[in-house]
Amino acid sequence: MPRLDLGDCVSAPIIEACALSYHTDGRCLIDGVSLAVNAGEVVAIVGPNGAGKSTLLGLLAGDLQPTAGQVMLNGVPLARLPASAQALQRAVLRQRISVTFPFTTFEVVMMGRAPHLRGRAEGQADIAIVQEALAHTEMLPFARRLFPTLSGGEQTRASIARILAQQAPLLLLDEPTAALDLRHQHAALCLARATAHKGGAAIIVLHDLNLAAAYADRIGLLHQGRLVAIGVPWEVLRAEVLSDVYGIPVTVCPHPHTGVPLLLTFPDHQSLLA
Ligand SMILES: Nc1ncnc2c1ncn2[C@@H]1O[C@H](COP(=O)(O)OP(=O)(O)O)[C@@H](O)[C@H]1O
Ligand SMILES: [Mg+2]
Repeated sequence: MPRLDLGDCVSAPIIEACALSYHTDGRCLIDGVSLAVNAGEVVAIVGPNGAGKSTLLGLLAGDLQPTAGQVMLNGVPLARLPASAQALQRAVLRQRISVTFPFTTFEVVMMGRAPHLRGRAEGQADIAIVQEALAHTEMLPFARRLFPTLSGGEQTRASIARILAQQAPLLLLDEPTAALDLRHQHAALCLARATAHKGGAAIIVLHDLNLAAAYADRIGLLHQGRLVAIGVPWEVLRAEVLSDVYGIPVTVCPHPHTGVPLLLTFPDHQSLLA
C-alpha cells in the first residue's frame, strides 16, 4: 500500500517570516525573527514599548524591506508580489491612522474595496459590503460623519471596518484595541477570530496580555528585536519571563472561568521608584 506523505498535503503557511532582520540608523530593530502562521490561527505579538512589534508588522506588511531574511505570503516571496496582489491577500491596520483629508467614514471604509475595484466605480455589492462592515463595528450611525471628527476609538473602529471591507484572508493588526473600550476590544478580537475561523489568519500586536491569552492560539514575545518566546499562552505567559522582560513583578494564575492564563501585577512601589 503506498504511503501517504503528509508533507504533500500540508499547505504553505499563510505568512512566514524567515530569519528576518531589520537595521536602521546603525541599530538592529529586528534580529533574526522566524515565524510561520497557518490558516485558522490567531497569533498575538506582545512585548514592551520599543521591542520592535510595529517594525515586525511593517516588515510582514511589506511597508519595510528587511535587511536580511524574507517574508513569504502564501508561499511566494513578498518582494515578488505586486502591491495589488498583496492587498487581496492581507489587510493591515497600522498603529498610526493617517487620514487627515475630510473624507466621510463611509468613504474611508470604501477605500478597503480599492483592491477589488481596480479603477471601476463602486457597485451595489461594494456598498453592501461596506455597510455590513460598518454594522459589524457599530459604525453605521457615523457613516456620514467626517473621519477626522471621530474620536480615537471611533476612528479605530472605522479603520477596522475598512479592513473588513477589504475581505482579505490575513489580518495584520497593530494595537487594534489600544483606543477601544472593553466591549469594542472584545468585538474587534472576535472579528479577528472569525476571520481565522473562515480559513484566514490574524497577527495582532497587543499590549494587554490577558486579551492575548483569551483570543490568541499562540503568543510571540518580542524583546529587544528578538522573538524570545513563541507558543501557546501557557508556554509564553510565565511569571518569571514576563517579570524579567517587563521589569515589573507579575503573577500568573488560571482564569476562573476559561482556564487561560490570567496576569496580575502587584507593583513593588519601592523598586519602581528606586
Ligand atoms: N526609523 C527609525 N529610526 C530609528 N529608530 C527607529 C526607527 N523606527 C523605529 N525605531 C526604534 O525602534 C524601536 C522599535 O520600534 P517599534 O517597532 O515601533 O516598537 P514597538 O512597536 O514594539 O513599541 C524603538 O526603539 C523605536 O524608537
Ligand atoms: Mg508599536
